Amino acid sequence: MRRPIIAGNWKMNNTASEGVALVNALKPLVKDANCDVVVCVPAIDIPAVAEAVKGSNIRLGAQNVHFAEKGAYTGEISAQMLKEYGVEYVIIGHSERRQYFGETDETVNKRTLAALAAGLTPIVCIGETLEEREGGLTEKVLDRQIEEGFKGIEDLTKLVIAYEPVWAIGTGRTATDEQANETIGYIRKKLAETFCPVCAQKVRIQYGGSMNAKNAKGLMAQPEIDGGLIGGASLKLDFAQVVNFDK
Ligand code: 13P
Repeated sequence: MRRPIIAGNWKMNNTASEGVALVNALKPLVKDANCDVVVCVPAIDIPAVAEAVKGSNIRLGAQNVHFAEKGAYTGEISAQMLKEYGVEYVIIGHSERRQYFGETDETVNKRTLAALAAGLTPIVCIGETLEEREGGLTEKVLDRQIEEGFKGIEDLTKLVIAYEPVWAIGTGRTATDEQANETIGYIRKKLAETFCPVCAQKVRIQYGGSMNAKNAKGLMAQPEIDGGLIGGASLKLDFAQVVNFDK
């Protein structure tokens, strides 16, 4: 009932020409996917990759968006700028942005509201660090990220949420299928309390963190997991195997 969504997060990888070559190689491999397929590319790759994905089932995403419509924000990119190139999705609040670029629940909230207002689909990232997990704080951290980050959202179903335990990102250490399912189940419960039970059932929640061609099938078989946000494995043709997890 929830259509799976597999998105690649290229992070700061692939020049525009490398990105076009990757997308062109992926197109025939993912064309029969039974899920939504998205690549979230560096901003400067967007024009070239937008051309490359035309006519395919690959949708285009960005990795960040500013919350103001326009103005004196040197170095930033607005939702309308993304829209003009056919961008449909935007990652917001990735843990790397929280860790290195001062992103907070408050700025995540502002970006998310701006993206929604512009008709973009935000892929909002939440998740705990290793220290927080080991300290038994996972639920508390997720509660805060949801309460603060999702404030004022009118239609939760317009979001995609990515649960990315920080300790599983780029480490090769994936959450077990059951751990990921259990935590995403908790997120859904919290969303049901904070928003409404029906929208919590409808909203798509991805898992992210060392997800790859080998472990995708097991993760995707879990009832709460509706997709993946893929880092390293989205830079290779392995991404097609993740997308085709059900084949
Ligand atoms: P990896 O798949 O490289 O662990 O990265 C996950 C991630 O951060 C996706 O946003």
